[in-house]
Amino acid sequence: MQIQALAALEKGAKLQPYTYETPSPKGHRCLIKVHACGICHSDLHIIDDDWGMSNYPIVPGHEVIGEVVEVGEQVTHLQVGDRVGMGWQASACMQCKDCLRGNENLCSNHQPLIVSEYGGFSDYLNVDSRFAFPIPDGIKTEVAGPLLCAGITVYSGLRYGGMTSGQEIGIIGVGGLGHLAVKFASRLGNRVTVFTTSQDKAEFAKQLGAVDAIVVERGGSPPPADRFFSVLLSTVPASIDWAGYAEYLDADGTLSIVGVPDENISLPLFSMLMKRRRILASVIGGRAMMREMLSVAEKYQIEPIVETFPFEKANEALERVRNNQVRYRAVLTKQ
Ligand SMILES: NC(=O)c1ccc[n+]([C@@H]2O[C@H](COP(=O)([O-])OP(=O)(O)OC[C@H]3O[C@@H](n4cnc5c(N)ncnc54)[C@H](OP(=O)(O)O)[C@@H]3O)[C@@H](O)[C@H]2O)c1
Ligand SMILES: [Zn+2]
Ligand SMILES: [Zn+2]
Repeated sequence: MQIQALAALEKGAKLQPYTYETPSPKGHRCLIKVHACGICHSDLHIIDDDWGMSNYPIVPGHEVIGEVVEVGEQVTHLQVGDRVGMGWQASACMQCKDCLRGNENLCSNHQPLIVSEYGGFSDYLNVDSRFAFPIPDGIKTEVAGPLLCAGITVYSGLRYGGMTSGQEIGIIGVGGLGHLAVKFASRLGNRVTVFTTSQDKAEFAKQLGAVDAIVVERGGSPPPADRFFSVLLSTVPASIDWAGYAEYLDADGTLSIVGVPDENISLPLFSMLMKRRRILASVIGGRAMMREMLSVAEKYQIEPIVETFPFEKANEALERVRNNQVRYRAVLTKQ
């Protein structure tokens, strides 16, 4: 079968039409007809080869929603016609101790969809069905995609950071990930403060569920800490004043980092140890947590705010993500 996709043929390139062949799905694989696909900042990191792992041509797209149209002989949890989503992870060994503990995202053989295979900026996708997740009926197709990467990443980063309810939670960066983090944390009963470089996002923060917003100039430092967080989640794809933000951590508080700056980070040891503060770096989430997150999103009506674009406008949408113009997640949809 021939698949029509959009690909970056080299580092930083604009996407162009790209066709590739795929066989009928065998074993655990299934074929999905793509209906919608969110755009994550990681798509840009991979198009630009920021992480030195890109494998051109890159077909971006790892917040994919579609319909199962064919399944391999070993697929038992999905049927033709099911609505499913694929996120960042394409496969894992399924046998190591991390996989067996439900942490497939931590598997040393974890393969990212848009690096080891082709992503969702395409009409069909042939993938390992064990990483295709049924979408609950209460979540609409055009808003479901961003849950598969942005949603799971912030849910997992907050949960492993120790978020329960009744806590003070801070979120740095109100983009695709950040705005969903505000929604998850607030709907689950926490008081949320956001740190943003965008005035309009500060003004909108209460509508996302935050109690307060602090505007911090790009490249600048937050004001001296006047509140203390159990979890402070950074979703920023750039270096920030880590030491300044660490002062906002409560005793035993966790700085949970999910955004990926292209430099190492440095933190003042004394400030961390005198309050037994922790740092956590977290990547997406395992399959069990993905199911939990989707179920929480449906029950608490947590959905992203999206700007939709037809697939043909993918380059325009990517440019808006690059320039921090999207409010709050771009999603490509089939008309
Ligand atoms: N760990 C994981 O598993 C995982 C999964 C998915 C994505 N990611 C990473 O998470 C990061 C965010 O992804 P996203 O899709 O949410 O991106 P996004 O939609 O572009 O949002 C990032 C936000 O960070 C803020 N920001 C951007 N540049 C900044 C700078 N120089 N200084 C301060 N703030 C800045 C902006 O928020 P304001 O306008 O509010 O300031 C921006 O909206 C990316 O690095 C991505 O690769 C990680
Ligand atoms: Zn992503
Ligand atoms: Zn494994």
